[in-house]
Amino acid sequence: MKTSRRIQLVLVAVLATICVSSILVSPHTVAQKPQSSGQQPSSYMSVNEEPFDVVRARDKANKAGVMAAHQRLLEERYNLSRRVDDSVRMTRGKPIPVGPTAKLKNGVTWEQLGRMSPDEIKDKGLFPYLPLPHVNHPVGGMVFPQTQIKVLPRLQRFDMDFDLPDWFLPEFPAAMFLTTRKDLGDVSKGQLITVNNYYDLFNGILNPKQLEGLRLLVTQFPQQQFNATADRKTERPDGMLGVACFDCHVNGHTDGAFHEVGDIRPQENRRRIETTSLRGVNIQRLFGSQRALKTVEDFTEFEQRAAYFDGDPVIATKKGVNILERGSQVHFMSEFEEILDFPPAPKLNIYGKLDRAKATESEARGEDLFFGKANCSSCHAAPFYTDNQMHDLAVERFFKPRMEGGMMMTAQGPIKTFPLRGIKESPPYLHDGRLLTLEDAVEFFNLLQQLNLSQQEKTDLVAFLRVL
Ligand code: HEC
Ligand code: HEC
Repeated sequence: MKTSRRIQLVLVAVLATICVSSILVSPHTVAQKPQSSGQQPSSYMSVNEEPFDVVRARDKANKAGVMAAHQRLLEERYNLSRRVDDSVRMTRGKPIPVGPTAKLKNGVTWEQLGRMSPDEIKDKGLFPYLPLPHVNHPVGGMVFPQTQIKVLPRLQRFDMDFDLPDWFLPEFPAAMFLTTRKDLGDVSKGQLITVNNYYDLFNGILNPKQLEGLRLLVTQFPQQQFNATADRKTERPDGMLGVACFDCHVNGHTDGAFHEVGDIRPQENRRRIETTSLRGVNIQRLFGSQRALKTVEDFTEFEQRAAYFDGDPVIATKKGVNILERGSQVHFMSEFEEILDFPPAPKLNIYGKLDRAKATESEARGEDLFFGKANCSSCHAAPFYTDNQMHDLAVERFFKPRMEGGMMMTAQGPIKTFPLRGIKESPPYLHDGRLLTLEDAVEFFNLLQQLNLSQQEKTDLVAFLRVL
């Protein structure tokens, strides 16, 4: 009796250990992993039927490991300490971050790297700007900065946190400018625009159509991680209502929130995408980094119908996709988006070029480089510093394809030329945010275009980018 009871106890203990460790060891939650049938990977996500409590317990147990692994990757690649220029600030006063932040390997210098061919950099494994994976690439989904979560706790996920330090992000909340009412300056009056204050702030400034559009932009609708089903990553009732467009495009700009692009499979080939600013969408002709949708209306409609659910209509239906009515809702939201202006650039003239009477010598030299030797202007054309085209920068010339951080480092194809007006207010840079500062952007293009710029020329180019 005694012996068999002891055996029973031992068996229970062994079983319990196996269960717990399998929960702890399983590297990623399966909730949003594409399901595979045999060897053939599926384009579809699994329709998760696991109980919420089970998923949450597993995700929470895994979280520290997930965060630590990603932090190691970031620290291998970047110097993340706070370095800012207090003399150059975003509209509401946040100082801009200064780089370059990328760490160079094997003691090589930027000058030496600049003289190497793409093949040499590739063979020696020296390229400092590989694609940036999502915090938990196999799982993905929307992740919001910690500064924002302090104000809007409903945006907290229980399975992962935001990864980059606050000094590399746009100011929160950003200022908002309207093309129609430039005379008013910052119409947000320093406030975070939400469903609770939009009416008081904008009644009398917008027409009723735009006002209704703005209401929809600050209203929560269900999304992949924030919804009312058991397959969600929020434990708060107010998080279960969904997210608002302006949770990411805060005050019509961006707060640096990111997710994964919906239109690629398999999962490891998807890109991390950093929220783009909606400032100046009116002058743009392509929307989305690669989808190249042709109107703001299309993007507005499909952001919610498709991107919110990783481009998977099966999941969207399950989680309660909100279908916007094209004639009144999509149209009204777009009308409002179309009047979001770039921030003022007091040193630019009506051609979008430097007013030389106001420019410093360094800024002027930077402009000459931008339109001359560095040839940035062949893609970033004045006055808004975009050609409204897509370009394949062929970054894969510089590295060997491989998996890193759960993401396939490989060719990424053509991406739209983002406008550079107001660029100092929207770090980090590129579609995935892999360039943490403007100095990194200049180093990146110096290598990409094989410009072999001197240190002084790089400083001048940055000086010019800061006044755009
Ligand atoms: C993760 C937070 C997030 C939320 C919420 C969000 N967006 Fe976006 N938005 C993005 C990202 C990231 C991109 C860039 C997409 C890409 O690179 O393909 C984007 C791109 C856009 C663009 C195209 C901008 C350009 O320059 O190409 C528009 C327009 C837009 N969003 C509108 C909306 C609207 C309308 C909503 C609400 C229905 C919304 N967004 C909700 C993150 C978000
Ligand atoms: C061949 C076209 C081309 C040239 C030349 C070019 N760019 Fe770009 N630029 C792009 C494209 C395309 C992107 C978006 C790439 C991405 O997101 O992966 C971009 C993105 C950027 C960004 C980040 C924008 C953002 O919102 O994140 C900066 C900054 C930038 N370029 C600066 C420069 C500078 C400075 C030069 C010259 C030294 C330059 N570019 C030359 C096409 C070009």
